[in-house]
Formats: sequence, structure tokens, C-alpha cells
Amino acid sequence: MECYQSEFAKIYRADCLVALNDVQDGSVDLIFADPPYNIGKKFADFHDSWASDREYAQWCYRWLELCIDKLKPNGSLYVMASTQAMPYIDLWLRDRLVILSRIVWHYDSSGVQAKKHYGSLYEPILFAVKNPASYTFNVSDIEVEAKTGAIRKLIDYRKEVPTLYKTTKVPGNTWYIPRVRYRMDEYEKHPSQKPEALLERIIKASSNAGDLVLDPFGGTFSTGVVAQRLGRRSISIELQEEYFKIGLRRLGIASEYNGDQLTRPDKSFVRKNGKNTVRAYQGNMVLYD
Ligand SMILES: C[S@@+](CC[C@H](N)C(=O)[O-])C[C@H]1O[C@@H](n2cnc3c(N)ncnc32)[C@H](O)[C@@H]1O
Repeated sequence: MECYQSEFAKIYRADCLVALNDVQDGSVDLIFADPPYNIGKKFADFHDSWASDREYAQWCYRWLELCIDKLKPNGSLYVMASTQAMPYIDLWLRDRLVILSRIVWHYDSSGVQAKKHYGSLYEPILFAVKNPASYTFNVSDIEVEAKTGAIRKLIDYRKEVPTLYKTTKVPGNTWYIPRVRYRMDEYEKHPSQKPEALLERIIKASSNAGDLVLDPFGGTFSTGVVAQRLGRRSISIELQEEYFKIGLRRLGIASEYNGDQLTRPDKSFVRKNGKNTVRAYQGNMVLYD
């Protein structure tokens, strides 16, 4: 197990089932857990595939149990899973925490599209707390436009003095947030990077400046990066060296690792379309001979 840290962020290169034992029980304000989904993805040397759904669920229960121990009595947990696995996690979790929201993160498709069934365009997220009478939820930090009030300018005649509808509201449980794309500035080389906008809403809503945020499956360390930007402390764990190095760089902890310079992905925007070379220039496609 390797561990590096800066003033705000601590990162482990380890199996989370091991590294979580190093985190103090009852010390964490917010956990965001985005595990491998058991859908056969390749995460560097790690193959995301279990022998059966049951074995995968048993593995999830092990790290979830540890995560719950780490949460403060007023802490919150957000957990993602595939649409197939989420029912197991939901049933298991509702005996231990109080699930307040079942969130659908949805996005538009890209690449291969389903032709013989309805393609999957969402991922579920559970938002659960230890104590529904005492938990952090910063409404004013996450409000979004309320279309009825903001666009239609309707008047609410139920009020004693008729008033315009509010122009903002707390987001509902369906979140449209585009997936991270190659051309986006935040893009890193990882098959399942979550958008900073998703983490921003979660961290702003369910933690305060100075709080401790834990991510047992760091990946590209989006959680730590957003936590740092928002003045929260973070602990992230990642098994694979390739992704751990992304964390060292993105969190400003180190600029080299074992002699390797840690640099941002070298993106090529050059495409051949048969006749011409097509380059991206400041987000626009430009044709060259
Ligand atoms: C779905 S990805 C997380 C993506 C991350 N939320 C992001 O925004 O980049 C899951 C990550 O868990 C890592 N992983 C797999 N098994 C692990 C384990 N036992 N302990 C810690 N990390 C693990 C994988 O290498 C992969 O990077």
C-alpha cells in the first residue's frame, strides 16, 4: 500500500478493502463510491468481471460495510452501480442507512447505439444518510432554474398576496449531465471518468468547507479534484498505478512518479477524412488539404 498526501488531499494506491482500514472510523462527512460495475470493462490491469452477480454483490457489501463505519453520525453516502446491480445494493443498504434519494444520472448516447432494445442512457446513484434528522444538505448552493417561474412567469394565486413563482428550485432526482468527452478540458485517459459537474453538485450539497470527503474508487480522482477546488479535504483510494499517477498530478501532489514525468493526456485532434486533414481549432473543425 502506498500513500501520498498534501495539505488537502490524501491518496492511496491500494485495494480499498485494505486502505479503508487505515481511515479512522466515524471521521468522514461524505462518501462518493463509484465502483467497477461488473460489466467487463478493462481498468488498466484490472478486469471488471466477477464469477457471478452474487459474488459481485458480496464484494460490494464488504467495502460498503467499511464505508459505513468511516462515516460520521451525520454523514452522507452516494453510491453508484450498474442498473442491474443497484437493486441488490439498494436492498442491502436500506437495512443500514436511510436512503433519501434514488438519483438517475442521464446523458445522451455516443458511439454504438442499441438497435434491438432501448439503449441504456442512465446510471443510478443512491443518496443515503446515517441520520435523517441530522445531515448536511446545502440547498442554496445547488439550486437550479425552476422553469415555471423563470420562463413562464406564472403567478401563484394560492398565496395571500399573489406572487410570482420562485425562479430557482432544488434539483429533482433526474440529472442531465453530459459524460466526459475527449475534447473536454477535464478529460483523462480512463474508461469511466465521472464529470466534475456531477461531483460538484454532490460535494456542494452534502459537505461544507473543511469537511472530509472519501472516495474508495478514485479512478481519475475527480472527487478529490472537485473537493479541493471547493475547499474540502479528501481521501481517495485507487488500485491501478496508471490512474494513481493521474491523482498525483491532478491533485498537485507530485509532478513525477518513479522517474516518470506526470503530464496531462497528449491529445491529437488530427483526423483524416479521406481527402483532407481535419483539425480541431478552439472547438471548431477546420479543413486543411
Ligand atoms: C468506475 S471507476 C471510478 C471512476 C472515478 N469515479 C472517476 O471519476 O474517474 C472504478 C475504479 O476503481 C478502481 N478499482 C477497482 N478495484 C478496486 C479496489 N479493490 N480498490 C480500489 N480501487 C479499485 C479501478 O481501477 C477504477 O479506476
